Amino acid sequence: MKDVNANADGKRRAGEEAARRVQSGMTVGLGTGSTTAFAIAELGRRVRDEGLKIECCVTSFSSQNLALQAGIRPLPVESFDRLDISIDGADEVDPQLRLIKGGGAAHTREKIVHALSSEFLCIVDPSKLVSQLGAFRVPVEFLPVSLKLVQRELVKLGGDCALRMAVKKDGPVVTDNGNLVFDVAFPPFDADLLEKEINTIPGVLENGLFARYRPSEVIVGESELRFLKR
Ligand code: 5RP
Repeated sequence: MKDVNANADGKRRAGEEAARRVQSGMTVGLGTGSTTAFAIAELGRRVRDEGLKIECCVTSFSSQNLALQAGIRPLPVESFDRLDISIDGADEVDPQLRLIKGGGAAHTREKIVHALSSEFLCIVDPSKLVSQLGAFRVPVEFLPVSLKLVQRELVKLGGDCALRMAVKKDGPVVTDNGNLVFDVAFPPFDADLLEKEINTIPGVLENGLFARYRPSEVIVGESELRFLKR
């Protein structure tokens, strides 16, 4: 069984370390999730206590709320033609630093923000490190009107699709972009190839494989921080 507190500690360590890498004058992309929440809180503290000056954008409504609570006012993603640094968690990280993301259904905006960024810092607790991607189902965001088509084509790729449901199971999860998400289990796959193949299906917005836009560095929150670089 996972030690939840150990995970929370690891997330905090990794998140705070990433926030320490940010310097005044930088443009910053903020991801989504409980690990990124620690980075946002620490950035807010630095803005307050150290006079850190940054311009930032976020990848979800939930991160927008966290940023505002921390005293940081995000700008729209589309106002940036590039970012200096982006910070985000992951659901799985393989030895080549390829990721599965999208546990928070924010992977489409996350991929846009990380693709804009010169440096993508991925922050995880050690439980996210895997030898091979795929135990965590691959999230696929799609337009509601394409549900049947996307399911059929994902099955052709070997996938087993589960429509992501809200916690209370009273309806499907609707993303910040107004779309739906399949969580898809695949037999062992080539992440570089599968990332491209899924995105050729009409109606698919984006999938949670980050092979092309993998991080420049992964910060692993252990008692001694570990830094994995490409
Ligand atoms: C959201 C994500 C998150 O970064 C991922 O799910 C990890 O979340 P957490 O930091 O809460 O473990 O991809 O879409």
